[in-house]
Amino acid sequence: MIAKRVVVTGAASGIGRAAALALAARGAFVLGTDIDDAGGEQLVVDGSGLAGRLYYLHADVSLERDTARAIEAAVETFGGVDVLVHAAGIMLGQLEDIREQAEATWDRVVDVNLKGAWLMARQVAGVMVPAGSGVIILVASRAGVSVGSGSFPYGASKGGVHGLAMTLERHLGPHGIRVNDVCPGDIDTPLMRSSLAQAEARGGDPAAIAQTVSRLVTPDAVAPLLAFLASDDAACVRGTVFTC
Ligand code: NAI
Repeated sequence: MIAKRVVVTGAASGIGRAAALALAARGAFVLGTDIDDAGGEQLVVDGSGLAGRLYYLHADVSLERDTARAIEAAVETFGGVDVLVHAAGIMLGQLEDIREQAEATWDRVVDVNLKGAWLMARQVAGVMVPAGSGVIILVASRAGVSVGSGSFPYGASKGGVHGLAMTLERHLGPHGIRVNDVCPGDIDTPLMRSSLAQAEARGGDPAAIAQTVSRLVTPDAVAPLLAFLASDDAACVRGTVFTC
């Protein structure tokens, strides 16, 4: 149903992986990117029944040259990019005391989560603005948007992604580009499991941690929403979308 050309970042795992598979299964041509090459290659193996619609490329979203290469590769392979699903992200510093938090923790999280989103948007805008159309979907979070976060850099970076999405919409909307940010709830992925482990190790409330574990949903629950937002059926969906 979607003959779209899509780049998905963070495609080796979790939400990005589920989105890449869901989009390819719906007829999109998908270039998945990540720094986890084993996971990326597994994605291609798992999608091998999808008639050559799924590709993988190593690209670190915090490096300009890698983000440029990702978009160039998609253009070379597909002839253009209609949709960016930006899901790459990291969570560090869960329940750390701000007075003891290392500057390096802040820098890494903000580099990947916020600068990475800006770099990817910047590169894909270079293709979408001349085309006069496109869809940019940034995966933000409730953390830093509608609630606080256990991690200062994570919450700040995701609030920043939300602000970036609104700003992209304002600047790129007039060029025919729709921008949405998606704020998932608690999804059962390695990022979430690592975040819960960090919380546990730093004395987090065991009852609260157990409650979070009990309500985790699979990334496959969010993937159809991302596929919908990528499609023309979502042409009238504006702004921020919250999920379970
Ligand atoms: P995940 O850990 O399963 O997937 C994240 C992917 O991003 C991994 O494959 C990882 O290798 C990749 N990645 C990390 N650093 C990268 C870099 N520098 N360049 C390229 N790729 C990189 O985690 P999950 O949960 O699927 O996260 C996807 C997005 O969803 C993240 O932005 C996360 O912040 C967001 N999110 C997740 C929630 C959850 O409950 N799991 C809730 C709200 C938001």
